Amino acid sequence: MDRRDVVQAVIDQRHGRTYLEIGVKKGKLFLRVRARKKLAVDPVLKISLKRRAGAWLRDPYNLFNEYYEMTSDEFFERRRQRLERLPGLDVVFVDGLHTHEQSWKDVANSLRHLSPKGVILMHDCSPASAAQATPAGSRQEAAERREVPRAGCWSGDVWKTIVRLRIERDDLRIGVLDCDHGIGVIVRGEPGRRLRLSPSELERMGYEDLAANRRELLNLMAPERLAEWLSRPAAG
Ligand SMILES: C[S@@+](CC[C@H](N)C(=O)[O-])C[C@H]1O[C@@H](n2cnc3c(N)ncnc32)[C@H](O)[C@@H]1O
Repeated sequence: MDRRDVVQAVIDQRHGRTYLEIGVKKGKLFLRVRARKKLAVDPVLKISLKRRAGAWLRDPYNLFNEYYEMTSDEFFERRRQRLERLPGLDVVFVDGLHTHEQSWKDVANSLRHLSPKGVILMHDCSPASAAQATPAGSRQEAAERREVPRAGCWSGDVWKTIVRLRIERDDLRIGVLDCDHGIGVIVRGEPGRRLRLSPSELERMGYEDLAANRRELLNLMAPERLAEWLSRPAAG
């Protein structure tokens, strides 16, 4: 399963109508997702007209897409009224700036506009190497600091947002699918087993801690469990 399979499976399972993608780049995922109303947010949108036209032909709902060329913070601040006019976001895919701080804010802002049945998915939650997990303010900075392959993956420390949610939130159920660099799944409900760590312990954690305790810290699960996990509100 890759992120496209996961996003579509969640939209279909929830009978979702509204989809927000934070961090869209060329629209590789965004344009292929099937949903009635899709919103794209990225400060540097790289979707060519040719790609957009191809997407219109493939799925006419793409004609109604809304594109916001701005950061996610600007989007949530400046487009609040637009968001409030929607019936709520059913599925959000968080894949913007790969830092703990920004992914935390993206999740918090998404939660404010999430429909009751809504699901937040977050990419890059289970990096496979220390290089991939390099904490930095941008991909370029990460590449300068460490051996992050130029065209390869940079996941940063987004994983810390999952750990922090599992420490702090008693109203959210959180897991990470073990596929496509780790896809976090966040829904409202009983959290199951929470993590007992202090803010300073979390602050001090590095990739080695994640690697040594990945399953426990992320509540890592096989992607095949997704449907069953989503349909059981109280499961951990
Ligand atoms: C890994 S790419 C997204 C890939 C896309 N989701 C897909 O699956 O095809 C990350 C994107 O996040 C965007 N980005 C960086 N900072 C951002 C921010 N503050 N808010 C929203 N998007 C941001 C970058 O411009 C880049 O296009």
